Formats: sequence, C-alpha cells, structure tokens
Amino acid sequence: MTLGSFKFLPKSSLGIDIGTSTIKVVEIARWGSKKSLKNYGEMRSEVLYDKPFRTAEKSSLLLSANEIARALRGILQETKIETKDAVFSIPDFSSFFTHFELPPMTKEELPEAVSYEARKHVPLPFSEVTFDWQILNKKRFGLPKEPARILMVAVPNELINQYQEIARLSELSLTTLEAEVFGLIRSSLKDKNESVVILDIGAQTTTINAVRKGILQSSRSIDVGGGNLSERIAKSLSIGREEAEKQKREKGLVSKELKTILTPLVDTVVSEIKQAIGEFAPGEIQRIVLGGGSALLPGLTEYIKESLNMETELIDPFRSVFYPPVLEGTIKEMGPSYGVAVGMALRGLE
Ligand SMILES: Nc1ncnc2c1ncn2[C@@H]1O[C@H](COP(=O)(O)OP(=O)(O)OP(=O)(O)O)[C@@H](O)[C@H]1O
Ligand SMILES: [Mg+2]
Repeated sequence: MTLGSFKFLPKSSLGIDIGTSTIKVVEIARWGSKKSLKNYGEMRSEVLYDKPFRTAEKSSLLLSANEIARALRGILQETKIETKDAVFSIPDFSSFFTHFELPPMTKEELPEAVSYEARKHVPLPFSEVTFDWQILNKKRFGLPKEPARILMVAVPNELINQYQEIARLSELSLTTLEAEVFGLIRSSLKDKNESVVILDIGAQTTTINAVRKGILQSSRSIDVGGGNLSERIAKSLSIGREEAEKQKREKGLVSKELKTILTPLVDTVVSEIKQAIGEFAPGEIQRIVLGGGSALLPGLTEYIKESLNMETELIDPFRSVFYPPVLEGTIKEMGPSYGVAVGMALRGLE
C-alpha cells in the first residue's frame, strides 16, 4: 500500500519583506490546499537604529547585513518562529524591469535570444546583474508568425549577495528572492486573470503596477510615501514629527485641514495611476487595489475612487489564508502593509 501524494504533508514557509520603515515576517503553513497563518511579526527600524533599513537612492540596503539580521533575529526570537525556508522580497526600485519583443522562434532558441537582447536593455554592466524573465504571450507563443513578448527583471548582484548574507546571519535558508511587485500581485488578485492597477504606498516610495490578465505589464516607483505625508503635515502645522504622524493616521483626508495640506502629494500618485490606466483598453481594467501601510490613510480609498471614477479597494492579502477569528480586527488593520510579505510566503508554498 502506498500513502499517495506527498503534497498532503504539511509545509511551512516564511515571507520576509525588508521595507524602509519596517521588516515584516509572515509564516504560513499549507496542508493540502488549505493554507493557514501560523505566525507573524515585525520590527520598526527606529526601535533599533536611527536610520531606515533601506533607501531608494541606492541599489543596496542602507544598513549593513549585520544590522538588518539583528532586527530579523529579534522578530524570529520573539515570535518563536521555527520555519527556516524563507522567501525574501527585493525592492522594486532596485529591480530593473523591461519588456521587449523577439521575432517568432522556438522555445529552445529563446534563452540565448533573450540573453543577447537583454544586454541592450540593462543599464548596468551585464556581469553585475542577475536576470530573470518570462514570456508574456505564453498562450500564443509558438503559433506561426507570433513574436515572443518578454518581461525581464534584472537585479544587481551586490543586492543579491546582501540578502544571502542576511539569511545566513539569521540562520534562515533563502529559497527564493523575488521583486516585491510579484508578491503583491500574488496576494491581491481574486482570480488569476484579472486586469488591475496595484499600488504599494509605503513609507518612502509608491509603486504603481499595471497588471493585465494577471501578468505585470509595467511598474513605476515614485518618491512619495507616508514619510512625505507626515513631513508635509509637520511643516504646515508647525508641529513635531510624531504628532504629525498621529494626526495623519487619525484624520487623514477626512479632515478638511489635512486634506488641503496632503492633496498635492496625493494628486501626484493619482496622476501616476491615470498614466497606468492609459495602458489598458477602455473598460479593460477591473479595479484599483491599494497596498502598503499608507493605503490606510483615512479617506484615501474614497478619494482615489472619486478622482478616477473607478472601483478602488484596499488589498486583503490574508483572503485565502485561515486565521483565528479573534485576529479579524488585527488582520484588517495590518493587511495592507503585509501584502508583500504574504505574497512571498505564498510563493514558498507553490
Ligand atoms: N493608519 C495609517 N494611516 C496612514 N498611514 C499609515 C497608517 N498606518 C501606517 N501608515 C504609514 O505607512 C507607512 C509604512 O508602510 P509600509 O510598512 O508599507 O512601508 P515600508 O514597506 O517600510 O516602506 P517602503 O515600501 O516605502 O520601503 C508609514 O509611513 C506609516 O506612517
Ligand atoms: Mg514596502
């Protein structure tokens, strides 16, 4: 007698998102097709250091691997997480995305052609990056006269080395590195073929992603985030940073005073979304999904919905994951900032 497929054995995976302001860790277990939340934890950089974990200006992390690993070990100890297999997200702004088309060819010829073409698109010396790619027109590719449409991601080797070092120092086994946006797509789509614009509004940057039928078409990061919003409030009202942060979270765009202060910044994000929508045919895009901690800004979802006259909602990354009902409120509150980490943990279970 055999016991059948091994896929029914329980498996656990960690998703780790090292953001500017916070490191988030999510542990998800799978039993057959059922997924459940085992544990989660986070550490804000200001608790340990007077610098953020990373900056958008460089293609490497701001703090050393040692400092980041110390924060990560703190989370793992506090949560008593035992799973070792981890998928880490890498910042979208340090991953280089590009699309290109290649003439019709066979699947076997593709890798060499992609590698050749990729050199023309990557702004860094080819020996300094690692690249990954996928076929965008998977279903049609291979038909007579059908070109190959390629999405390519290149990541600086220096950054990859840093993540490997962080994993080593944290005694984790790094199974996969993936750009944040792919985690966000995984944790936000309700069905695999949706066409949506997905935002990640973090502490330092906002990334705007156009996704057609489940496949990333374009991704753009701008230097607007929750940090700017708080700064703008602090300056305009001549109050301290902490008080500004508090008012932002409590009142947001619902308060007339703050709305006047914040609208110019929020409108730069809105105009970026408009540009992303421009990549879709009329009626093609189904909704706008808001992720990242700053998506929780009171009144933001409604503001974007009204400005663009399009269905807009907060990301709900724990939608497909079981968790104890007592956590309902907490999960709702933390959902938007955990979109990337959940997407990474889910990747580890695929
Ligand atoms: N309820 C809230 N209302 C408004 N802003 C909020 C709220 N909760 C958190 N934020 C903001 O969310 C930001 C943190 O979001 P997140 O954890 O997604 O950032 P990050 O991943 O560390 O940064 P980045 O993605 O830019 O590297 C902070 O700027 C914080 O002020
Ligand atoms: Mg982030």
